[in-house]
Amino acid sequence: MSRLFTPLTLRDITVRNRLWVAPMCQYSAVDGVPQEWHHTHLTQFASGGAGLVIAEATAVSPEGRISPEDTGLWNDEQRDAWTPIVAGIRRRGAVAAVQLAHAGRKASTWSPFARERGSVPLGQGGWPTVAPSAIAFEGYATPAALDPAGVDKVVADFAAAAERAVAAGFEVLEVHAAHGYLLHQFLSPLSNHRDDEYGGSLENRARLLLRVIDAVKDAAAAVPLLVRFSATDWAEGGWDADQTAVVAGWAAAHGADFFDISSGGLVAHQRIASVGPGYQVELAARIRAQAGVPVSAVGMIDDAEHAERVLVDGHADAVMAGREWLRDPHYGLRAAGQLGADIDYWPLQYVRARRG
Ligand SMILES: Cc1cc2nc3c(=O)[nH]c(=O)nc-3n(C[C@H](O)[C@H](O)[C@H](O)COP(=O)(O)O)c2cc1C
Repeated sequence: MSRLFTPLTLRDITVRNRLWVAPMCQYSAVDGVPQEWHHTHLTQFASGGAGLVIAEATAVSPEGRISPEDTGLWNDEQRDAWTPIVAGIRRRGAVAAVQLAHAGRKASTWSPFARERGSVPLGQGGWPTVAPSAIAFEGYATPAALDPAGVDKVVADFAAAAERAVAAGFEVLEVHAAHGYLLHQFLSPLSNHRDDEYGGSLENRARLLLRVIDAVKDAAAAVPLLVRFSATDWAEGGWDADQTAVVAGWAAAHGADFFDISSGGLVAHQRIASVGPGYQVELAARIRAQAGVPVSAVGMIDDAEHAERVLVDGHADAVMAGREWLRDPHYGLRAAGQLGADIDYWPLQYVRARRG
């Protein structure tokens, strides 16, 4: 009996297996509106056997976009463009999730497809960025420190985006508190030098994240909520696994259901101990054990047997993959075959290709 192909229930939503698609920016939206590309990109993973499909970091406000080509959920046109995409994912038997995000000081950057690197200048489609403190990410434009009204607006934007996501049909939400984006910038002492109620102590640095969780829960009470954390900054004096475990416990008490454990992205001078297969699994296992919360592991877990082992060893409750799904959008079907799992969601149209 494969653990990877055992269903997992989040509140009232049952996900058919534990091999999930990690959120991946496509830098292909127009004014925050997802396009035909996003439809094909996301629905193919559902056809390919994924359990949960998490749509890319989707900005809760225009200034929260990483690049001008990011998707958004700050207006109704964007909501309406997501609706058929979400329906397509669900029709193929997967659960549709979206990652709600604000990039903070890492906003307004060139997409990887541009020739230029770093911040997009104001005259060329860029915009002024905001952050907990006026400290730039190395090589990027200096952000303005958010004032209390600005912090309140971030909270309200997350809530409004959550409401639109649910209206579009998304069944699960993820709050992006990782990879050096705004909520992570508030958590880490390296980017948060505030001396008000949002800076200093761990409780203060976690305040914005907890307010966002409360607001999202108010907007979408019954909807399962994931939080993605970077469990370490991989930098001296930064955010680490012990702080993540404490704040994950608080987040769970505020209604978050599940934790997606990644790492890094806050500072350019990070030094990752060693990058290789499953290099972040140990962090996921630590948060799971210390906080007593369900977690997913992600990061170079590229084959079915490895993913199965992560679960059987009790390191995580689900496994996400990013790039392996890009290499093979039918990774889920292949993984089920490899593990001898008898799934009933091979697309009928493709059954003639099934082995075993
Ligand atoms: C093309 C691409 C886009 C990504 N965009 C996001 C994103 O929108 N949000 C996020 O949290 N992580 C993003 N990531 C990180 C992935 O979610 C994942 O954590 C990372 O790729 C490690 O998993 P992998 O080794 O299975 O690819 C992205 C990764 C890739 C390759």
